[in-house]
Amino acid sequence: MKIKLLFVCLGNICRSPMGEGAMLHLLKSNGLASKVFCDSAGTSAYHIGNSPDGRMISTARAHGVELVSKARQVQVDDFYEFDYIIAMDKANFQDLESIMPEDATGVLVMMRDYDPDPQDGDVPDPYYGGQEGFEEVFDICMRSCENLMKDIKHEF
Ligand code: 4NP
Repeated sequence: MKIKLLFVCLGNICRSPMGEGAMLHLLKSNGLASKVFCDSAGTSAYHIGNSPDGRMISTARAHGVELVSKARQVQVDDFYEFDYIIAMDKANFQDLESIMPEDATGVLVMMRDYDPDPQDGDVPDPYYGGQEGFEEVFDICMRSCENLMKDIKHEF
């Protein structure tokens, strides 16, 4: 049985596709891709069907990481389908908590719970800012996913 991870942000075009792409990249380079299923979703419906933001794609690609997701909105079934639902910031966490069923089988966590340098605990939204914001999201996602991968390895 594969462990299933769902990365969630607001639009599902910047941070959560980067979380998904970072994790897939790390799993592949550690020979663990067959053990874990990764997906991402947004709490909003703003960008359903869209590819990730071009700025996030180019930042990731410059570091050798490809992003392949198409945006979708999170749904209640995801709390039964996925083992870990990973929120990018506190607003995403609260929005997810508000729709999480009482008998959910998945657990809701914060991405930066896995970051050795979590600062205020949020993956900052880069959408309205400059290039440095996308670089920061890339670094946070790679650091956090490295630790998340180590953490779930004992479940294989
Ligand atoms: P994300 O970034 O939640 O990391 O995908 C955003 C993308 C779009 C918007 C906000 C944040 N928006 O307002 O359209």
